[in-house]
Amino acid sequence: MRKMLVTGGAGFIGANFVHYWTRHHPEDRLTVLDSLTYAGNLENLRGVKDHPGFSFIRGDICDQALVEQILRERTVDTIVHFAAESHVDRSIHGPDEFIRTNITGTHSLLKAARQVWLEERSSGRKNGHRFHHVSTDEVYGSLGPDDPAFTEKTPYAPNSPYAASKAASDHLVRAYHHTYGLDVTTSNCSNNYGPYQFPEKLIPLMLINILAGKPLPVYGDGLNIRDWLHVEDHCRGIELILKKGRPGEVYNIGGNTELTNIEIIRILCSLLDRKIASDEDLRKRFPDSPAAVGKSSTSLISYVKDRPGHDRRYAIDPSKTMAELGYMPEITFEKGLRDTLMWYLENEAWWRSILDGTYRQWIRQQYGRGRDRTE
Ligand code: NAD
Ligand code: DAU
Repeated sequence: MRKMLVTGGAGFIGANFVHYWTRHHPEDRLTVLDSLTYAGNLENLRGVKDHPGFSFIRGDICDQALVEQILRERTVDTIVHFAAESHVDRSIHGPDEFIRTNITGTHSLLKAARQVWLEERSSGRKNGHRFHHVSTDEVYGSLGPDDPAFTEKTPYAPNSPYAASKAASDHLVRAYHHTYGLDVTTSNCSNNYGPYQFPEKLIPLMLINILAGKPLPVYGDGLNIRDWLHVEDHCRGIELILKKGRPGEVYNIGGNTELTNIEIIRILCSLLDRKIASDEDLRKRFPDSPAAVGKSSTSLISYVKDRPGHDRRYAIDPSKTMAELGYMPEITFEKGLRDTLMWYLENEAWWRSILDGTYRQWIRQQYGRGRDRTE
């Protein structure tokens, strides 16, 4: 039985991972540590809150004493580290929080793991720990149209403050393995999509704007390319790394689905237009959506000023993870996107409570303001 600490487990990927793990490993104990920034949402964990062995702690990864206490009291043997500031646009407008959480926070976790786990190891009490660090393909920089996809050997060239902060955290994780012998693995993955994604990221933002009849802001010429990965395939990749990954190694996880932003937006418009045109209830629920009055949602497409330093293309070469661990993305983009669209249609209350601020009000009533300066 594993005793796992999941940082950032109330965020998009972390929450999906918690659902995935409790479904596939119901015997394990799982503690989520999350400070509930604007991106953390307890509603994301509603489905697992009564799961035996699951518990939630609101706390900051920068609080080393708290993390040490959790590791000791719960005899944690595995850390899966998702907690981060994750949105590139926010990092451009305010990098400080990215440096604090992504670099200092990761370092604080590493220090806690070193303190508790290496102490246990040297006193012969326990063996078999794993610190898994979840990172991004953005650390590798931007590709030209004909460049080969990123491998684990691609030199780092982060371009945004977000990517630079993730790159720094990757280096710290690597250094703690080489210097102190901490048992670590790192995964660098491409753009995730799926349920519970905060509506500031491309896919949920566009979906919700189509439903509300609001403009769809396309940065620059819309021809930037991302490699899309369903969040469940990402979780499956992390599971394989935890089970079979070699300590000190880095594994790339991708979805083999390169698309331009404008292609994605046009697909979303067409899927929603067809859905709404054939469903009277949806037309009543979303009267401002163009399809409710027989128009095409592409009429909402609006080209806007480009993101500063906008990376042109990302693509992951997952062949090492495939060959060594048997990883294979299983969810086609077509199915994954349809399911995601259905999730957002069926969970309107989830995104409405984020957009109208009622969710944050509730969190403040439950916990006070905390130290969330990003609201
Ligand atoms: P997210 O922004 O949805 O969630 C981040 C979570 O971390 C939130 O629950 C937030 O409350 C929590 N958090 C933030 N600061 C914290 C702190 N100081 N202490 C404790 N908790 C804190 O992010 P996501 O999209 O789920 O990304 C998760 C991880 O995956 C990140 O490390 C990100 O860099 C990485 N990643 C994301 C993607 C993607 O497409 N979303 C792709 C590659 C890698
Ligand atoms: O590649 C992995 C990364 O993917 C993760 O490390 C990040 O945490 C995650 O946020 C994501 O970063 P991106 O910047 O690629 O994701 P985002 O959804 O913000 O944007 C995707 C693309 O869409 C990007 O080229 C910018 C563009 N875009 C985005 C928004 C929000 C638009 O054109 N309009 C928009 O309104």
